[in-house]
Amino acid sequence: MMRIPSLLLVLILLSSLGCQVMGDSKANPLDAILQEYAYKALVKPITGTIYNATTQLPSNFTGLTLSALRLRSGSLRRYGVPNYNEFQIPKGFIETPYVKRLVLVYQNLGNWSIKYYPLLPNYTYLAPLLGLVAYNGSDLSATNLSYHNLNGGADPIIVRFHDVKSHPPGILPKCVCFDLFGSSHFSNVTGGNTCSTFQQGHFSIVVQSTPPPPAISSLPIPPKESKSSNKKVGIIVGSVLAGGLVLVALSSLLVLWVLNCKQTKKIQEMERAGDLGEVLHMTSVGNTKAPAASLTRTLPTIEHEYAP
Ligand SMILES: *[C@@H]1O[C@H](CO)[C@@H](O)[C@H](O)[C@H]1NC(C)=O
Ligand SMILES: *[C@@H]1O[C@H](CO)[C@@H](O)[C@H](O)[C@H]1NC(C)=O
Ligand SMILES: *[C@@H]1O[C@H](CO)[C@@H](O)[C@H](O)[C@H]1NC(C)=O
Ligand SMILES: *[C@@H]1O[C@H](CO)[C@@H](O)[C@H](O)[C@H]1NC(C)=O
Ligand SMILES: *[C@@H]1O[C@H](CO)[C@@H](O)[C@H](O)[C@H]1NC(C)=O
Ligand SMILES: *[C@@H]1O[C@H](CO)[C@@H](O)[C@H](O)[C@H]1NC(C)=O
Ligand SMILES: *[C@@H]1O[C@H](CO)[C@@H](O)[C@H](O)[C@H]1NC(C)=O
Repeated sequence: MMRIPSLLLVLILLSSLGCQVMGDSKANPLDAILQEYAYKALVKPITGTIYNATTQLPSNFTGLTLSALRLRSGSLRRYGVPNYNEFQIPKGFIETPYVKRLVLVYQNLGNWSIKYYPLLPNYTYLAPLLGLVAYNGSDLSATNLSYHNLNGGADPIIVRFHDVKSHPPGILPKCVCFDLFGSSHFSNVTGGNTCSTFQQGHFSIVVQSTPPPPAISSLPIPPKESKSSNKKVGIIVGSVLAGGLVLVALSSLLVLWVLNCKQTKKIQEMERAGDLGEVLHMTSVGNTKAPAASLTRTLPTIEHEYAP
């Protein structure tokens, strides 16, 4: 009976994760420091030009690479950024709430990756961790800025890593993404060096250095049915049925939550679209495209929590 409350707890946790307001959130301490140094490279910046901010970093950050790019948000939405170091941002990304200009900070953590973003035991980085983080770009002397929310369009951001280390054969490398809400998720690598994402965050390619234990095949095979085992079968069937009932109960809870969640999101989206529509109406005449923030991004799956 201890299991049910803990399952409920998981559901509640899930619901708080999935339903969180995708608004601006406070930058983690490293991102906050890097934002400050990246902005120092933007002296009378030309929009759309990538500025090398590595030179701004103090010597105790040697090994880390930093760039800054200031954009008009309309330009991001209409054209994307075809070539921002390893990142390729398609058109269609919109920032919420609306800001006139935003700054995209690029980070290559180099040999600092493992220090700032430790991995689960037995996982190894095959590439440096690359960060792409958006901020309000109105005030270039601002510090302590929150992350600025970007909502994806139809196409994902592509991350094409330059030097991916080789790995033992037979092990499948994975893309890892540490999102801005503190969780991490895995996805497949394509073409040996490419990851895709609908959100900002920090990205790399990892391998699990020891192969995972053999799956289901090693489970004990149930004994052949006989008279004496009929009772056992009865017990098993009984407990499966009971388990099934619990599962049904939990599933209906989940369904209820999903419905509730969808509704909340819909309201949030409507509110957001409303805000956005208003601002866009003021700034760009004749914009007929409804800038609804479609939440098509995949929700974070909880592989493990990133503790800064
Ligand atoms: C940035 O500047 C540093 C120091 O001048 C240089 O070593 C580095 O290659 C530059 N990075 C880029 C991406 O241009
Ligand atoms: C480098 O020094 C700055 C300022 O003293 C500090 O904020 C930062 O955490 C240091 N960086 C590292 C990697 O320790
Ligand atoms: C990364 O390498 C630089 C030298 O290239 C070194 O100064 C720095 O301490 C290294 N960082 C870590 C975390 O080992
Ligand atoms: C990591 O690998 C070592 C040896 O290869 C193994 O003993 C250990 O159980 C593994 N740890 C995890 C968490 O998989
Ligand atoms: C962006 O920054 C400017 C200047 O600090 C501020 O006036 C504006 O309210 C900010 N916008 C948002 C959406 O936070
Ligand atoms: C940033 O915020 C923290 C607390 O959130 C504060 O202690 C710190 O002084 C702030 N730094 C700057 C430069 O405003
Ligand atoms: C990822 O790769 C594995 C193995 O090739 C495959 O089974 C799985 O369907 C892929 N997942 C996605 C989302 O493409």
